[in-house]
Amino acid sequence: MRTVKTVLVTLLSAGVLSVLIAAAVIYAGLFNVAATDPHWPATYWVLETARVRSIQVHAAGLAPPAGYDEPSKIVAAVGHFSEHCTTCHGAPGAKQSDLAEGMYPRPPNLKDVAGRYTPGELFWILKHGIKMSGMPSMESDGDAMLWSTVAFLEKLPRMSDDAYNDLWVQAQAAGGQGGMDHGAMNMDGAGNAQTPPAGHSHK
Ligand code: HEC
Repeated sequence: MRTVKTVLVTLLSAGVLSVLIAAAVIYAGLFNVAATDPHWPATYWVLETARVRSIQVHAAGLAPPAGYDEPSKIVAAVGHFSEHCTTCHGAPGAKQSDLAEGMYPRPPNLKDVAGRYTPGELFWILKHGIKMSGMPSMESDGDAMLWSTVAFLEKLPRMSDDAYNDLWVQAQAAGGQGGMDHGAMNMDGAGNAQTPPAGHSHK
């Protein structure tokens, strides 16, 4: 009985001590928030696991509505994507902007990572954004447009530069989507996907 008590008291004191040390380290400004200073492997593991598990749990049970991946919706989604996402994530045939290269975490190339998520998880990410990363919530674009963007993201890993460009040209011919401000996210001109190929602007 006495040993159990000793063990418990020791564990509790160790716990309190760790919290105090952590608080002292943070208050002393020793944790470096610089984007140029990568996380330690342990910090990275904690943040990455928290992100992946949070997305999985919050998105559980989210299923796409019927017809969300109709061809016309994918065209509209490409218009939306080229205006709101390529500055940070790039697109087939278009690099991400210099601005995005300086971000930490750096916005990933969605062609490489979109396949890791279910449609419900992609929808949740777009609707809510990701805390402490720079990934914004796109909730104001409306659920229907976000589901169309999900349909596009599902096709992206296997989409060629030419196929993307064709969809982009169709999106411009259809007048973008919902009167969105053209080039709203094209902060430094690196959104190459927004440059119409010569002679193709009216199809
Ligand atoms: C201001 C920059 C920025 C914009 C604009 C942006 N994102 Fe992101 N996005 C990020 C960052 C940074 C991450 C990485 C988050 C992380 O790793 O914690 C991210 C992550 C994601 C992820 C999760 C992928 C992964 O494994 O990290 C998806 C999916 C995504 N973005 C889709 C989009 C789409 C679609 C749009 C446009 C509707 C968009 N993003 C607009 C910065 C941006």
